[in-house]
Amino acid sequence: MESYNYLVVGSGLFGAVFVHEATKRGKRCLVLERRNHVGGNIYTENINGINVHKYGAHIFHTSNKEVWEYINQFAEFNNYINSPIAIYGDEVYNLPFNMNTFSRMWGIKTPAEAKAKIAQQVAEAGIKEPKNLEEQAISLVGYDIYEKLVKGYTEKQWGRSCRDLPAFIIKRLPLRFTYDNNYFNDRWQGIPIGGYTPIIEKLLEGSEVMLNTDYFTFIKENPGIAEKTVFTGMLDEFFGYSLGHLEWRSLRFETEELDIDNFQGNAVVNYTSREVPWTRIIEHKHFEFGTQPTTVITREYPLEWEPGAEPYYPINDEKNEILANRYRELADKCENVIFGGRLAHYKYYNMDQVIAAALEAIRKEFNS
Ligand code: FDA
Repeated sequence: MESYNYLVVGSGLFGAVFVHEATKRGKRCLVLERRNHVGGNIYTENINGINVHKYGAHIFHTSNKEVWEYINQFAEFNNYINSPIAIYGDEVYNLPFNMNTFSRMWGIKTPAEAKAKIAQQVAEAGIKEPKNLEEQAISLVGYDIYEKLVKGYTEKQWGRSCRDLPAFIIKRLPLRFTYDNNYFNDRWQGIPIGGYTPIIEKLLEGSEVMLNTDYFTFIKENPGIAEKTVFTGMLDEFFGYSLGHLEWRSLRFETEELDIDNFQGNAVVNYTSREVPWTRIIEHKHFEFGTQPTTVITREYPLEWEPGAEPYYPINDEKNEILANRYRELADKCENVIFGGRLAHYKYYNMDQVIAAALEAIRKEFNS
């Protein structure tokens, strides 16, 4: 006899939205979470009054009105606009690449001057068919931007030289010929006041949640506990890695509390030279315009992934996509299992895409 309608594996955003909607429709949900907290990668922890993004900076941004209205039911969003800074040696640049960046780099003032400078550098490089990432980047933005803002950062992220990376990784490098430091082009943007964890807690209200519980161990002891399973864990793990491992890129976070009120004056600062081992420093208080007397910063280090490491970014190259498709075929044959979220789809999703996907799964499930 099934005790629950849905066994939901994972309390991240996908699982939590699904649970909320299913519970609202009178269904009983049991949520299993392997970690010791809910929320998946959007989990925030309050340290000295500062909401710390434990799994990397999370800025909510979307152009999807339904998703924006949906998430606003569970939190009030502030007017944070992501405007990262890049530090290269002693030089400080605005991101994304825009007129402020170009002006700082070349002392120019107008869009025409910036376009001419880039065109001149691209022409001087004379690259017709880029053979690697370095050539691809230079053929798109010229030497200066590549050298100071792309090269070191990309090499740290991938752990190898841009000359040894394939050109396809960078399809385009957006250039903005306005003085606009807003990183995102989306219609709506902000940070939930009080962090993301309270959103997840509200979404999970009315369901039962078991923390520190791994699905694969649990289900052996409790087969048939629910009519259906919603699985938001890793796709290859669900099938016992029977076809091999899907590869990811990982990250290491080093968080430090500092006895000063302002460390870097901005939430996100990228370090673009190869010599600095971290790619970014996040100063969490600035996401919520914090005025606390102390601060918390997190250095982000790229990490080569190996089985067992925390999976952050899927490597959607040809080899991994072929493997993922074979797993997806197996998943399609699984009756009574709904696969959802970034791990089970082996895709990078922004938060708004995850919410949209969970709402779509609900519509399909309930024919509504
Ligand atoms: P998520 O990984 O959050 O949840 C899955 C849950 O399942 C986890 O809690 C896991 O522990 C659990 N689980 C897995 N296997 C299990 C098992 N066998 N048994 C029990 N539990 C299990 N997006 C955005 O819009 N703006 C941003 O600024 C960022 N920033 C960002 C930074 C970094 C570094 C990354 C990697 C990602 C982002 N994102 C983002 C993306 C965002 O993190 C992502 O969209 C959501 O967290 C995905 O939610 P899911 O529910 O799909 O997965």
